[in-house]
Amino acid sequence: MKKKLLALGLVAVLALSAFAGCSRGGESSSDSGDSKDKGGEQLIGSAIYKFDDTFMTGVRTAMTDQAKSEGVKLELVDSQNKQPTQNEQVDTFITKGVGALAINAVDRTAAGPIIEKAKAKELPIVFLNREPEAADMDSYDKVWYVGAKAEQSGEMSGQIISDYFKAHPEADKNGDGVIQYVMLQGEPGHQDATLRTEYSIKQIEADGFKTEQLAADTAMWDKAKATDLMKSFITGQGLDKIEAVLANNDDMALGAIEALKSEGYNTGDAAKYIPVVGVDATAPALEAMKDGSLLGTVLNDADGQGKATINVAVAAMNDKDITEENVGYPVTDGKYIWIDYVKVTIDNYEDYLK
Ligand code: GAL
Repeated sequence: MKKKLLALGLVAVLALSAFAGCSRGGESSSDSGDSKDKGGEQLIGSAIYKFDDTFMTGVRTAMTDQAKSEGVKLELVDSQNKQPTQNEQVDTFITKGVGALAINAVDRTAAGPIIEKAKAKELPIVFLNREPEAADMDSYDKVWYVGAKAEQSGEMSGQIISDYFKAHPEADKNGDGVIQYVMLQGEPGHQDATLRTEYSIKQIEADGFKTEQLAADTAMWDKAKATDLMKSFITGQGLDKIEAVLANNDDMALGAIEALKSEGYNTGDAAKYIPVVGVDATAPALEAMKDGSLLGTVLNDADGQGKATINVAVAAMNDKDITEENVGYPVTDGKYIWIDYVKVTIDNYEDYLK
């Protein structure tokens, strides 16, 4: 009898431990131990709004490197700029049993349904680069956002223009005391497009300059579209009238420079130069600073954002609190990881050239 009881007890213990062994990272679990104890390879599913984007390509590389160094698997998919495609990709990730999601939304106002999907499975979800609306962020306790304060990048690009006009009063070509500018904007509705546009001009005015917007339109973050747009600004306004070019990102700044170059501007002749400023500090932009065609840019820290995204996903998969101690970056309101921008001018651009 005693033997029988012992055997039954053993079976029960084995059954319990087998059950515990089935628990994989990401599934709800009360155990707060290390993920390595949970067994199985941890997988993060990440959907990027589109792969064909210079800055996001840098973020993807950083995510891949960080996943490797954290010893987790990362599956990255291209949402090809289509929200329905991204929604299906999220479903596939969930079916596959990922431990966490890292989503660069196509449409940041469409984050709600994706959060609902994650919530139904108690899966942690990290958004990056395209900030969901506050109500969506508040709808679930396992949602985080990794990004950068767009206002800051706007202010820094504005400062670059102000500093140039302080040092070069002759840049006010018609001498009217007003900076006449054109603005190339990112995708409408993207927080970075709206806020960079607004805060760059606010900064120039706070620095004591009057401004006049000659023309502004979207070139969708895209270099080729920006060349066409800048050509139409040149035709519409006349090159003589344009005193500064502000672009919401570097690809568009470089596109605008192509258009200027085809008119003989920004190729080294000091009499034919219009200051152009961008954001991101991509490799081609830093090269353009080196050759003098681009005045300045603002570092949008792709490495930091990619790294932070993976760190948050890994910590969350392992039921760790999302704190600076656990993810390596300060956490605001328990949900937001803000990575600082850095102003990049002729004085420090070499620090960022890879
Ligand atoms: C911005 C970046 C742009 C573009 C966009 C995509 O932060 O400056 O170049 O990558 O994100 O959402």
